[in-house]
Amino acid sequence: MNLTGNTILITGGTSGIGLALAEAFFQLGNKVIVAGRRQSLLDKITAANPGMHGKQLDVQDPYALDEFAANIQKEFPELNILISNAGVSRQEDLAADHIDLSDARSIIQTNIVSTLHLTAALLPILKRQPDATIITTTSGLAFVPRNNFPTYCASKAFLHSWLQSLRVQLRPTSVEVLELIPPYVQTELSGPHQATDPRAMPLADYVAEVMQLLGDGSSPSGEILVERVKGERWAERNGDYEQRFIAFNGE
Ligand SMILES: NC(=O)c1ccc[n+]([C@@H]2O[C@H](COP(=O)([O-])OP(=O)(O)OC[C@H]3O[C@@H](n4cnc5c(N)ncnc54)[C@H](OP(=O)(O)O)[C@@H]3O)[C@@H](O)[C@H]2O)c1
Repeated sequence: MNLTGNTILITGGTSGIGLALAEAFFQLGNKVIVAGRRQSLLDKITAANPGMHGKQLDVQDPYALDEFAANIQKEFPELNILISNAGVSRQEDLAADHIDLSDARSIIQTNIVSTLHLTAALLPILKRQPDATIITTTSGLAFVPRNNFPTYCASKAFLHSWLQSLRVQLRPTSVEVLELIPPYVQTELSGPHQATDPRAMPLADYVAEVMQLLGDGSSPSGEILVERVKGERWAERNGDYEQRFIAFNGE
C-alpha cells in the first residue's frame, strides 16, 4: 500500500491508536478524515492539524452510519482507505447472579456490527478506486483471550475470521484487506490507568512500527503484526498457548 496520496477515513480517530495513525498519515501528505463521537476532540484535532477533517459519528446508531456513509461518498468520492478502528472494551462478570447483557450488546454493536455495516456501505466506492485498502483493528486478545473481557475478546476473534473471508472474496477487486492486530498499547481503552501502564507498549512506538510495516508491504498474510504481538498471534503454532492462557487467566 502507498503511504502517500490517499484519502483515508479512520473511525475511532478521536484518541489512542486511531488518532496516532491519523496524524502519522496526515504528516505523510494524505487526506485524512477522523470520526468519533466526541465533538470537542474532533475540534481540537482539526485545529491542531489544519486540513484534517473531523466528522461526528456514533457507530452504535445504524441510521447515523447510513447517513454518514452517504455523506462521505458525496464529499470524498476519491476515498480509497477505510480504517475501521472504533472499539470499546468492558469487563464482564459472567459468574454474577444477574448478568447484565448491555455491555455485551454495546461491544458487539460497536466492534462487530458497525464494522460490517460501514464496510458494506463504503465498499462500492472503494471498489471503484484503482487501489484501495480496508484496515480493521482486531487485537492480540483474539488469539489468547482474557477471561475478564469475554465479549471483547470474542468480538476481535469474530473480526479475525470475518476478515479472512472478506480478503478472499475481494481478491478479484482492487481492494486489499489488512488486519491490524495490536498488542497491549498505552491508550485509555480500558481506563486512564492503561495510558501509563508500563506493561503496555508506548503508543508512539506502536504506530511507528505499524507505519514501517505498512510501508514495507512486509505483511503478505494481510496481518499487521508488530514484534510485541507475535507471541500471542502464534501461540498455537509455537506450542505455548496453554502457558500464555494460564499467564492471563490463572490455572
Ligand atoms: N490499546 C490497546 O491495548 C488495544 C489492543 C488491541 C486492540 N485495540 C483496539 O484498538 C482500537 C482503538 O482503541 P484504543 O486503544 O486506541 O482506545 P481508545 O483511545 O479508547 O479509542 C477508541 C476509539 O473508538 C471510538 N469509539 C468508541 N465507541 C464509539 C462509538 N459508539 N461511535 C464512534 N466511535 C466510537 C472512540 O471515539 P469517541 O469516544 O470519540 O466516540 C475512540 O476514538 C479499538 O478497536 C481497540 O479494541 C487496542
